[in-house]
Amino acid sequence: MHPQESAAPSAACPLSLTRRDLLVASAATAAAGSTVAAEPTAPRPAAGAAPLHKLTLTVNRQPYTVELDTRTTLLDLLREQLHLTGSKKGCDHGQCGACTVIADGRRINACLSLAVLHEGSQITTIEGLGTPRQMHPMQAAFVKHDGYQCGYCTPGQICSAVAVLDEVKAGIPSHVSADLTAKPLLSADELRERMSGNICRCGAYSNIVDAVTEVAGRTA
Ligand code: FES
Ligand code: FES
Repeated sequence: MHPQESAAPSAACPLSLTRRDLLVASAATAAAGSTVAAEPTAPRPAAGAAPLHKLTLTVNRQPYTVELDTRTTLLDLLREQLHLTGSKKGCDHGQCGACTVIADGRRINACLSLAVLHEGSQITTIEGLGTPRQMHPMQAAFVKHDGYQCGYCTPGQICSAVAVLDEVKAGIPSHVSADLTAKPLLSADELRERMSGNICRCGAYSNIVDAVTEVAGRTA
């Protein structure tokens, strides 16, 4: 017998417990707890497991079928699974525009859009607009006008600018359009307003406007 254990509580102290009493009591408490936890509950996925969804979409004219966690954003799908890292994650909250891509002809913040919403969609990222050897006119204009410094916001700026010119062509007015029924003007104010969702921490804004204006002059 362990020297600290005694066969019976001391008569002088009727409340004293032996070490064995305490072990028995705590084992009983644990058993009671596990009984509660084992009561039937609704089936749940194993810890760490996530429901997977099969998704088919086209990115930069290439078809993809992927299996993903239904909570995956389009930005994470592009960057983490398809390894198209041109689209940048700045704020991940829809505030900076660094993640802008073109989905079915409309520019969107890929960080705010669940990938599963894009079943069958046509997505264009900066990699799909042009290549270093064969640049899209908007990419070439950004280079020509120094429309960037660090370049982190640039893929989003360029995707946004390309979609802006399509919006102008389609006659879609902006917040600063004076006449909502007239063909939108390609003024600097219009371009600034339409590009206002794309933040540039380097402050390359005036050069970005120059670049977009040049391409607008060619294509709009
Ligand atoms: S990363 Fe999507 S808006 Fe900033
Ligand atoms: S070029 Fe650096 S954030 Fe825009």
